[in-house]
Amino acid sequence: MAFHTIPGRLLPLAALCILLVSCIALCVEASGDKLFVVPNSAVGSKADCSEDFPCSLEHALAVAGAEAELEISEGHYDGNVVIHANQTGLSLNGAGASLTLIHSAGLVVNGNEIVLDVRAEDFSANRIGFAQTWNESNTANVTAQIGVLIRDTAIGARLDEVLVLYNSSGDTSTSRGVVIAGAPEVELKKTAVVGPWQDGIHLISSSSKVKQGLVDGATRIGIALINTNVSASSENKIKQVTIRNIGDGSTFGTAIEVQGNNNHVKEGEISNWGKYGIHVCGEAGPDKCDPCHYSAAVEELPDSDPLRTARHTSIKGVDFFGEPGQIRVCDGGEETKVKRVQVIREAPEEEREVVVVI
Ligand SMILES: *[C@@H]1O[C@H](CO)[C@@H](O)[C@H](O)[C@H]1NC(C)=O
Ligand SMILES: *[C@@H]1O[C@H](CO)[C@@H](O)[C@H](O)[C@H]1NC(C)=O
Ligand SMILES: *[C@@H]1O[C@H](CO)[C@@H](O)[C@H](O)[C@H]1NC(C)=O
Ligand SMILES: *[C@@H]1O[C@H](CO)[C@@H](O)[C@H](O)[C@H]1NC(C)=O
Ligand SMILES: *[C@@H]1O[C@H](CO)[C@@H](O)[C@H](O)[C@H]1NC(C)=O
Repeated sequence: MAFHTIPGRLLPLAALCILLVSCIALCVEASGDKLFVVPNSAVGSKADCSEDFPCSLEHALAVAGAEAELEISEGHYDGNVVIHANQTGLSLNGAGASLTLIHSAGLVVNGNEIVLDVRAEDFSANRIGFAQTWNESNTANVTAQIGVLIRDTAIGARLDEVLVLYNSSGDTSTSRGVVIAGAPEVELKKTAVVGPWQDGIHLISSSSKVKQGLVDGATRIGIALINTNVSASSENKIKQVTIRNIGDGSTFGTAIEVQGNNNHVKEGEISNWGKYGIHVCGEAGPDKCDPCHYSAAVEELPDSDPLRTARHTSIKGVDFFGEPGQIRVCDGGEETKVKRVQVIREAPEEEREVVVVI
């Protein structure tokens, strides 16, 4: 008989212990990490963020620790959400990209009005929307309006089925849908950046992906791939993204601007852009392109940096709906590969496009 075998009379007790231990593990997992959120008007007096007594978004964010999952029910919320660096692995889960919608509450910090400000590693947002509005009476101190800011500390952030909406008919200068400000390995999947943002997505990152998404209505650039270090490789991938209605209605506007090395643009659809469909920019080319729209920092957004060049870009299988001549490559042409790019003169049918219903 082995030394540590449990004597028969102690078996029921042992079983009870095992049961207790597994119950504790289960209970912690089930209730500790999930916080249930409803709009302020539906928060009751016993609100403790449990499923039966859901709490406000503000309260849930204040008590949420690492790995917390916020289950945010359908509805409109007002807030400028900050995910702190110590909230590693936190996730915001909504009921649908246009059903659970968080609007900026108008908070301006250092000139920036940001709807979602992510500072934690391994953050994720799923089936949820973030909306920014241009408020005429609150613009004096606003330098930049941003939908989602993924800071350099937010390594591995993921957005899946997220809507980033700019609801504005006013001045839209210096507004960005999504800014990935230095964090590597970020993924935007099925993310729709809609409305007259000046630039839809700034990807100042490496090893990041934008896939199966939509950028619709940006007034200057759809997606800008930016490498702040010209000698480093950024290796980002843009795949199966639909970009449309870019520009200010005249000749201005670029669907994708590449300002970094070793980037890949694959299998997308570009329609109704202003000037360039894809612009691999910089001054090194034979016929000197327009400079890039490099942005050094979120607070500081100069219009251009003529020194920027991009090399080893690969553009493959992208369909252009419109007139030819949309790809502008300014690295001398030897290092950038352009393959299987189709120019289709008719605009794509609506059913083929990603449609966002608000
Ligand atoms: C997490 O960080 C925030 C912001 O720095 C701070 O206010 C909060 O107290 C921290 N929470 C914990 C549990 O340390
Ligand atoms: C616009 O800004 C003003 C001033 O800060 C504020 O009182 C008002 O609630 C804001 N309106 C909206 C719709 O955000
Ligand atoms: C702009 O900032 C100044 C100084 O911080 C402040 O006094 C003023 O109320 C702000 N204006 C608006 C519209 O927020
Ligand atoms: C957009 O703005 C208009 C006018 O301010 C408002 O009526 C509408 O509800 C807003 N829509 C969204 C989705 O924010
Ligand atoms: C730029 O990238 C190169 C190549 O990876 C690296 O050696 C250099 O230190 C980087 N410079 C800065 C300022 O980060």
